[in-house]
Amino acid sequence: RKGKTPEEVVKKYLQKVKSPPEEDCTICMEPLGGPSGYKGPGVGPVSRAESVGRLAQCGHQYHFQCLVAMYNNGNKDGSLQCPTCKTIYGVKTGNQPAGKMEYHVIPHSLPGHPDCKTIRIIYNIPPGIQGPEHPNPGKPFTARGFPRHCYLPDSEKGRKVLRLLLVAWDRRLIFSVGTSSTTGESDTVIWNEVHHKTEFGSNLTGHGFPDPGHLDNVLEELRAQGITEDDVLVE
Ligand code: APR
Repeated sequence: RKGKTPEEVVKKYLQKVKSPPEEDCTICMEPLGGPSGYKGPGVGPVSRAESVGRLAQCGHQYHFQCLVAMYNNGNKDGSLQCPTCKTIYGVKTGNQPAGKMEYHVIPHSLPGHPDCKTIRIIYNIPPGIQGPEHPNPGKPFTARGFPRHCYLPDSEKGRKVLRLLLVAWDRRLIFSVGTSSTTGESDTVIWNEVHHKTEFGSNLTGHGFPDPGHLDNVLEELRAQGITEDDVLVE
């Protein structure tokens, strides 16, 4: 993805707004009728005609400069997410560090799924140095508890979840680098908003059994990252 400036990326997802509503921009909290409250590096003057934009699909309106600033604060992957309703424009990617995702079928049934075997996913991410897309570029990050093992029933629905998780892995959305809410450690690899079942039968962490909504929860969390069945049908 070469050559598109942040302004061009943002513009692609916007419709023109002739007269801004008498509301505040929820990014900078300043009125949409006035200038963006965001003053940072790279914020230049804009003509009045392009100072406010409406996101094409969800219709939420912001200062153009505020959207550009938000885009520049992210990983600049050509996608944009509405900060109000989370609608995703383009293909959202994350900042998961390099590593490996493997899976295989094991000949045991998960509790609650007596009629099928089990898919075991094994994630392995080594520690490393943070890149520009991470909270503290140049600083090391740790990686605790790897390899991390996760379980899905080897049913039609479980296999569908697996296919979507493989897309999420490719888009670097399964893990992130930040502060662990479990251990409090910063600059470490953490799960990123897609809940995995990490205990086969026990439930010491709350990520085991019983967990009746597990597959539906994962599908919903993947959808929130912009990953749906459409993403696997086209491949
Ligand atoms: N299994 C599955 N999901 C978990 C687990 C777990 N053991 N622990 C936390 N989560 C979920 C949380 O509910 C939260 O939504 O991951 C999200 C991020 O939580 P953090 O505690 O910040 O994530 P992380 O530090 O990666 O996980 C904590 O998981 O595998 C273990 O060794 C790892 O002890 C560590 C624990």
